Amino acid sequence: MSNSLLLLFVFLLTVIGNNDNARFIAYGVVDEYNRDDFPPDFVFGSGTSAYQVEGAVLEDGRTFSIWDTFAHSGHYNGANGDVACNGYHKYKEDIQLMADTGLEAFRFSISWSRLIPYGRGPVNLKGLQYYNDFIDKLISHGIQPHITLHHVDLPQILEDEYGGWISRKSVKDYIAYADVCFREFGDRVLHWTTFNEANVFALGGYDMGFSPPGRCSYPFGAINCTKGDSTSEPYIVAHHLLLAHASTAMQHGFVGINLFAYWYEPYTNTIEDVKATQRAHEFYVGWFLNPLVNGDYPELMKKNAGDRIPNFTKTESTRIKGSFDFLGINHYSTLSVKDNPSSLEMEIRDFSADMAATLICVF
Ligand SMILES: *[C@@H]1O[C@H](CO)[C@@H](O)[C@H](O)[C@H]1NC(C)=O
Ligand SMILES: *[C@@H]1O[C@H](CO)[C@@H](O)[C@H](O)[C@H]1NC(C)=O
Repeated sequence: MSNSLLLLFVFLLTVIGNNDNARFIAYGVVDEYNRDDFPPDFVFGSGTSAYQVEGAVLEDGRTFSIWDTFAHSGHYNGANGDVACNGYHKYKEDIQLMADTGLEAFRFSISWSRLIPYGRGPVNLKGLQYYNDFIDKLISHGIQPHITLHHVDLPQILEDEYGGWISRKSVKDYIAYADVCFREFGDRVLHWTTFNEANVFALGGYDMGFSPPGRCSYPFGAINCTKGDSTSEPYIVAHHLLLAHASTAMQHGFVGINLFAYWYEPYTNTIEDVKATQRAHEFYVGWFLNPLVNGDYPELMKKNAGDRIPNFTKTESTRIKGSFDFLGINHYSTLSVKDNPSSLEMEIRDFSADMAATLICVF
């Protein structure tokens, strides 16, 4: 999971647009292959997130995001992103290194609280200039810029004001922020990811509590959280992320969402474990992908989560269905899955209990 502070992402992004010239883009490098093993229009690149590389967290008008707050409350044994890779100051050298490495694309995220320090309202001109320079430099080195709009870093001010993503107000503020990005950078940037690892953001932040904003409730959290509700908040947050994603208008280019995807294998070849494996796919990926493709959550998920999972109205469902040009996948490892029917008998349940499966690391 992406819970270590300075993790360089190796991920695969698959463009599955419904146009004929569907393209495939991979970030990261695999040693055993060379360029000729891939089609000429296959794009290689790498990626980062703002909080993990920029540093300069209170410089030139930037304010704290929920990730700053989380890091500063001691979750990483005292480490934080105050300086990180100092990318805010060293981006010119960094881009030269990217060019030397031969990257064809670079995916980076915009720090919302650098661009719009109060979460909504006035744009910070220094933040705007930084991202404009960054994009121009990438392009002048022949590297395609790919932007992620939200990578675990909602402005803290919105978390304080209305509870961040557990409130539907977040949807409206996100859309306004996305519109600023499209307006300012859309002339040069064609590839947009609305949320990085949307599923893990909802689970890590609101069920297990191991990532920002660190909410969970006993007995479900990986830590003892002081606030949160693991039984319902992950579902509510995912709902708002989907609504925000789908409402994000674009004039041109490609807009997609990024999900964390394990591969799953059944722990044994019993029918129970095979079915549990299917449930794991449905819960982790279908949670977002089924609404995006079919307009609603997977049936089994709705059945097991009951009233804890929100409903889409007809209009919302129509808007969400088909609202993506590509699906981004961050893939790190494979787990095996064991059926766990007894969790459905628990009086209070979270996402994992609703899934009725245990994920085991055996590879
Ligand atoms: C969390 O709280 C519960 C109940 O108070 C306690 O039994 C448990 O030991 C605590 N766990 C940690 C990791 O502090
Ligand atoms: C969603 O709709 C179903 C079917 O109409 C209903 O049973 C359920 O209570 C609704 N859930 C919520 C959270 O309102």
